[in-house]
Amino acid sequence: MERIVNQSLLNGLCNQGDDAIAVYNPSTQRIIGYVPSLSKSGIQEKIQSAKLAQREWQQKTAAERSLVLMRWYDLVIENANDLASIMTLEQGKPFAEARGEVMYGASFIQWFAEEGKRTYGDTIPTPASNKRIMTIKQPVGVTAAITPWNFPIAMITRKVAPALAAGCSCIVKPANQTPMCAYALSELALQAGLPKDLFCVVSNASSRLVGDIFCNDQDIKKLSFTGSTEVGRTLIKQCADTIKRTSMELGGNAPFIVFEDADIEQAVAGAIASKFRNAGQTCVCANRLYVHTTIYDDFVEKFVDAASSLVVGDGFDQEVSVGPLIDEKAKADVMSLLSGAVKEGAKLSLGGDELDGNFIPPTVLTEVTKNMSIVQEEIFGPIAPIIRFSDESDLLEQANDTQYGLASYFYTQNIQRAFRIAEKLEFGMVGLNEGIISTEVAPFGGVKQSGFGREGAKQGIEEYLNIKYICLGAIDS
Ligand code: SIN
Repeated sequence: MERIVNQSLLNGLCNQGDDAIAVYNPSTQRIIGYVPSLSKSGIQEKIQSAKLAQREWQQKTAAERSLVLMRWYDLVIENANDLASIMTLEQGKPFAEARGEVMYGASFIQWFAEEGKRTYGDTIPTPASNKRIMTIKQPVGVTAAITPWNFPIAMITRKVAPALAAGCSCIVKPANQTPMCAYALSELALQAGLPKDLFCVVSNASSRLVGDIFCNDQDIKKLSFTGSTEVGRTLIKQCADTIKRTSMELGGNAPFIVFEDADIEQAVAGAIASKFRNAGQTCVCANRLYVHTTIYDDFVEKFVDAASSLVVGDGFDQEVSVGPLIDEKAKADVMSLLSGAVKEGAKLSLGGDELDGNFIPPTVLTEVTKNMSIVQEEIFGPIAPIIRFSDESDLLEQANDTQYGLASYFYTQNIQRAFRIAEKLEFGMVGLNEGIISTEVAPFGGVKQSGFGREGAKQGIEEYLNIKYICLGAIDS
């Protein structure tokens, strides 16, 4: 914690005690701090305060709200090194990557500070001469967000910034593994002049309890969740009683396809970036690589060569490009998928060794086949299974044969194939000759059991707005 220059970023922390949640450094597995575990009534009070604060906030003009958001953005940028240090401490990703996430997270604040001024309604040509028809957009009210540990800053700003820009308040329940980033962000928002209670963080040792409170509370009008499909499904069901709006960014099983006409160097670079970002712990990571049989050996050789140069270790070590998995359970789950694949006949072409702590080295599995569980399940770790294919339509069937539909990637130099495949992939996002597709300007989200709703882009703010239709009658009188 001595690394943090601006100690006010740690204001959300508390002392060790019965009501405290311990936060661990996944690299050292040591406790680095504690955050409060709020009681049920404490969380309900926060919701009531957020309701009162929102009533005033929605009266502000979009330009006034934008100014506050821009001050918040500036403070996040000014404190980027400290925020990145907190992230590396509690999440484990390498410091440079953590800094990258801080900038990515900040970009959503800047983007929505601007988009908030453009929430246009419509005037609609009238079907009756004495009537006029228009729509306006209004904030949905108090909103709640449940956010994951893999992007402890960007997944918060991607929800909170559009909510605030739209005139809503937002209560965030961060993952218990990474709450310190959330508290630091809310502290900076306060310092930027955001009225108290509009953006508040609530932590509790039981994520289920907070989920129950959020879903059942009549005053929360919208819930946004990023996490597993399993938990998303439960939350959707729980929100049914209060008919709450929801948006869900859930699991993925991204295919990464390399056609015989691809630029192999580009494809290798894209696959490395996509697969090993955050040690493979992203919903959009390449989960299964399909490589055309005529270039398979060449691709594998170059991919293994590139992956073997990645250094695993503590994210504060400058050489390190692959950090730890978030905790022991995550590591055990990934190792069990790996050993299952080897038992099923996959060949270990790189890595696979058992390291101490939460670390797993970049690992490449070859001669993988379509029925292996490593192909069916979201890996969430630095394991790259590579599958051969020879026929385009069979490949498409395999790529689409998953309950998930978040990200997909393919590499080709053939323009007809580029359009054909991009249109046929049943995923919300497609990287064409590109392994990193995330940006604040594009709509992030999935289809099928990867969820619904879009984050970022012009669409992201719509999730926090209701459309009101106004019919003006008797205009001739
Ligand atoms: C995620 O893994 O949930 C988000 C990844 C991203 O925004 O790039």
